[in-house]
Amino acid sequence: MASAGLHEIVLVVRNIENAVRFYRDVVGLTLRSDPTDDWASFATISIEHPQWLGLRKGDLLFEEHSPRPRGQRFGPVHFALVAGEQSPVEFLERASRHGAQVYGPHEWDGRMKGQSYYCYDPDDNLFEYWYPDRPAPRPTRPESSEHREMIQGLFETHINVSDLERSIAFYCGVLGLEQGHREDDRRVALLWMGGRGTAMLGLWEKPSALVVPQHFAFRATVEDVLGRSVAWLNERGLTSRNFLDDGTQRPMVFGWMPAVAIYFRDPDGHSIELVAMLPDPPRPELGIASWEEWERTRDAGQ
Ligand SMILES: [Fe+2]
Repeated sequence: MASAGLHEIVLVVRNIENAVRFYRDVVGLTLRSDPTDDWASFATISIEHPQWLGLRKGDLLFEEHSPRPRGQRFGPVHFALVAGEQSPVEFLERASRHGAQVYGPHEWDGRMKGQSYYCYDPDDNLFEYWYPDRPAPRPTRPESSEHREMIQGLFETHINVSDLERSIAFYCGVLGLEQGHREDDRRVALLWMGGRGTAMLGLWEKPSALVVPQHFAFRATVEDVLGRSVAWLNERGLTSRNFLDDGTQRPMVFGWMPAVAIYFRDPDGHSIELVAMLPDPPRPELGIASWEEWERTRDAGQ
């Protein structure tokens, strides 16, 4: 099973105050609470995102079981953070103000396209700040309400269906959504998408004349859209089609997003999409491309 992400990296440091000065004042991270003499913890994204950078002076839990003698158990490491700022100007200014020597930029191409700056922290760890050419992903839950967008995303959408039982069987039985609530009198079912509380799809039974085909998209992973969506749909008796309806069942890429997607229909003819954002920089000039074309031109650096 895959992990859910990197939770914490802890650096063993000689002096908390010096290390805090580097990660707070030069790198620009936010402390989660006041540091003590032997511990400090930073948020690498925001307070609400559990991806921490810890600084520890002294022993770590269970370190006595290390096969190595005290003093040789932990040493400098190299690690990189994705910069939250678009440009390195402020980081470089902070570094020069605090006398930190910065090396680089190193230009990356391909999947890591962007620039990296390197800097040794006071404990000789080699810190890298990576500035991807694409904008850094925005935290979905910023730490303070002052900066928070009111609209955080789409939570629910509702569609008219001509046969409630048939649609429940399709969305829950075939596609695997979870039924959350059902009102037989009102002929409505509310389903969870992506698990309880993540997002909701409402099915409202109406006379056929009121069931006008709509379009909406389910979020999926890149790996699944590319690797198994077509087979997954076919196993369920569903025909997949791509945006161009070119007779193939290949997922297509929307260059401006960029995202990869495949389409199919529900029993009422609603157009459903499985879509996944790609980690690459957008290339609107490509329009809608096959995955093969997207990969070929990306790897060729075009
Ligand atoms: Fe769409």
